[in-house]
Amino acid sequence: MKTQVGIIGAGPAGLLLSRLLHNKGINNIVIEKESENYVRNRSRAGILEQTSVDLILSSGVGDNLEKKGIIHEGISFHYNQKKHFINFIESNNKKTVVAYTQKQLVRDFIDKAQEDNLEIIFEAKAKKIEGLETTEPILFYEKNNIEESVECDFIIGCDGFHGISRVSIPGHEEETITKIFPYSLYGVLSDSPPISENIICGYHPNGCSIQSMRGAHLTKFYFQCPNGTTTNSWSDNEIWDELDLRLGVKNTRGDILDKTVIPLRSMVCNKMQYNRLFIAGDAAHIVPPTGAKGMNCAIADISVLSKGLINYYINNNFELLDNYTTIALKRIWKVVRFSWWMTTTLFIEPKQSFFDSEMQLATLDYLFSSKAAIKSFSENYAGLPIESNFSY
Ligand code: APR
Repeated sequence: MKTQVGIIGAGPAGLLLSRLLHNKGINNIVIEKESENYVRNRSRAGILEQTSVDLILSSGVGDNLEKKGIIHEGISFHYNQKKHFINFIESNNKKTVVAYTQKQLVRDFIDKAQEDNLEIIFEAKAKKIEGLETTEPILFYEKNNIEESVECDFIIGCDGFHGISRVSIPGHEEETITKIFPYSLYGVLSDSPPISENIICGYHPNGCSIQSMRGAHLTKFYFQCPNGTTTNSWSDNEIWDELDLRLGVKNTRGDILDKTVIPLRSMVCNKMQYNRLFIAGDAAHIVPPTGAKGMNCAIADISVLSKGLINYYINNNFELLDNYTTIALKRIWKVVRFSWWMTTTLFIEPKQSFFDSEMQLATLDYLFSSKAAIKSFSENYAGLPIESNFSY
C-alpha cells in the first residue's frame, strides 16, 4: 500500500488531521489498534477551548458540536464554605470553553470519515517504522495476525502516550522531560445531572476535587487520592460523601458507570520531528487533567502540523514543517505551566507544610480579588491563541 500521509491513532489528533488533509485533497490512511466500537465508546475528556471549536467547525465536522456543545460562562471555585465564580465571558472578550465530550467528537469524525470514504483501518496495530532516513518511510502494522505495510511521504504519530511513534525518534529519551506529581486523581463517571453546567473546583484540606459536566444526565468527578490508590480503595458511598465534603455541595448521586485512578504527571518531548516522522497530541506531551487541556493541546498541534503538510503539498515548501516543533512547543510549555500551576494550587502535598497551605490560600485570594489575575486565568483557561502568523 502507498499513501501520502500515514497517521497512527484514531483519537482526536489523528482524526482531525485526516479530515483537514482530506479537505485539501491529500491522501491519508489512519491506522488504529483498537476496534471501531471501542474507539466510539471510549470515555475521555470533555472541554473544548474556543480555538479548538473554531478549528473543528472550519474542518466541516462541527454540526453536532454547534448544536449540542454547551457554552460555559465560567468556572467556580469552592473553598472555606465560600463559592467564587470567574466569568470568562466578561473577563476574556467573550472567549470561553464549550462542554462537548471527546467521545462524541470522535464519533462525529468517524461518521463523516465513513461518509466520505476516508480510510481508517481499525484493529490494526502499528509495530514499527522503517526508512526514516529516506523520503519514503514505511509504516508496518499488524491486522488479523498478518503483517502489512504502507509506504508514506510522511508518518504522523497521533498514537498517545504509549504509542510507538515517540520512541521511534532517535534521541527521544534525552529530549523528554517529565514531572511526576506526588498524588493521583480518582475519576468517576456518574449517571446523574451535574449540579452546575460550569466546572467546579474544590479546594479542601483533604485534597482537590472537580465536577465537570459530560451531558444533561452525565457528570465526571475527580478527587485527589494518594499514589498507589486502586479503584477498589473507595466504596461508592464513600466516594459520594467525600465529593460532597470537598466540593461543599450536595451532589445528585447516580450510578457510577466508570472508575479510574490516574497518576498525575506532566511530560513534554522537546523533539517532535525526525525527518519525515512527526508526533502530536498525547504522543508528544501529557498534562494532568486539572486544567482540561489534553484534548485542546492535541488539536493545537494539529492546527500547526496540518498547515505545514498542506504548505508542503501545495507549495512544495518544507519550511513550516521544519518549524513545527518550535512553533508547537512555544504554546505547549505555556499550557503545561498553566496545568502545573492549577494542580499545585489546588492539590495538597503529602505532609504539606503550613507555609505551602498559606501560599495556596494567598494564590486563591489574589485570583478572586484582582481583575488582572482573573483576566490572566480566563485567558489561559479559555485557551491561548494558536500560532497563526504563517500562511500557506
Ligand atoms: N497502533 C495503532 N494505534 C495506536 C497505537 C499503535 N501502536 N498505539 C496507540 N494507538 C491509538 C490508541 O488506541 C488511540 O486510539 O492511538 C490513539 C491515541 O488517541 P488519544 O489517546 O485520544 O490521543 P490524542 O489523539 O493525542 O488525543 C489526546 O486524549 O487521552 C486523551 O486527555 C487526552 O484529551 C486528550 C486526548
